[in-house]
Amino acid sequence: MNGRLTAAVALGLSLAACRGQVSEQPPIVIIRNMHAQQKYKPQERSRYFQDGRTMRPIPAHTVSREEGAIDPEFESGLSAGTRNYLERIPQGVIAQLRHRTNDGRWLEGGEGAVARGRERFNIYCTPCHGMAGDGAGIVWARSVGGGYQYPRPATLHDDRVRHLPDGQLYATIRNGVRNMPGYASQIPTHDRWAIVAYVRALQLSQANAGATP
Ligand code: HEC
Repeated sequence: MNGRLTAAVALGLSLAACRGQVSEQPPIVIIRNMHAQQKYKPQERSRYFQDGRTMRPIPAHTVSREEGAIDPEFESGLSAGTRNYLERIPQGVIAQLRHRTNDGRWLEGGEGAVARGRERFNIYCTPCHGMAGDGAGIVWARSVGGGYQYPRPATLHDDRVRHLPDGQLYATIRNGVRNMPGYASQIPTHDRWAIVAYVRALQLSQANAGATP
């Protein structure tokens, strides 16, 4: 009798553990190790802080550990104390930009800036502006056939965009413009300038290629 009971319980348990069963319940884990941790998830309500925010506001004048203190001209793209855009990429920024090639060489100065900018541009800008910067990126292309509307991003080869001051191109990346969102939180200051350097190179390369649609 006892033997049968044990067998029945064992069978029941083994069936209950069958894989492939769909359940809304969390899995039963006997040795829990790191399954449960005391932690807050992003945006979760905090019971500790009075304002209930888990994600704490950044104290004023905080300096990024990655970037250090940044010259306000580099950061804003405006010449000091004015509302005028810098005409040219600051030399101090160019001097700090470099790029490691696939075969392990470091490109410095202007060459480094353009190479770094090209890589960043291809990551962040081409989905909308396209590899050639003509505005025919995949986001727009899909929207045409996909039944939703995304405004066609500006071509970067437009005469007006070609003649924008470098600082205004920089500020476009940092703050966005009209339908374009800002990329300040994804792209750090120096990389924004590197992208400006690359956009200038791209514009020169396409200037007579008839790329303007
Ligand atoms: C999510 C899509 C999207 C991404 C990503 C994007 N842009 Fe744009 N961009 C736009 C759109 C849309 C416009 C046109 C905005 C308008 O006129 O309403 C635009 C306009 C511009 C302009 C023209 C500004 C002007 O004064 O007319 C520049 C320059 C530009 N983008 C540069 C960039 C660069 C550099 C990047 C990469 C860091 C980038 N964009 C990433 C969508 C995007």
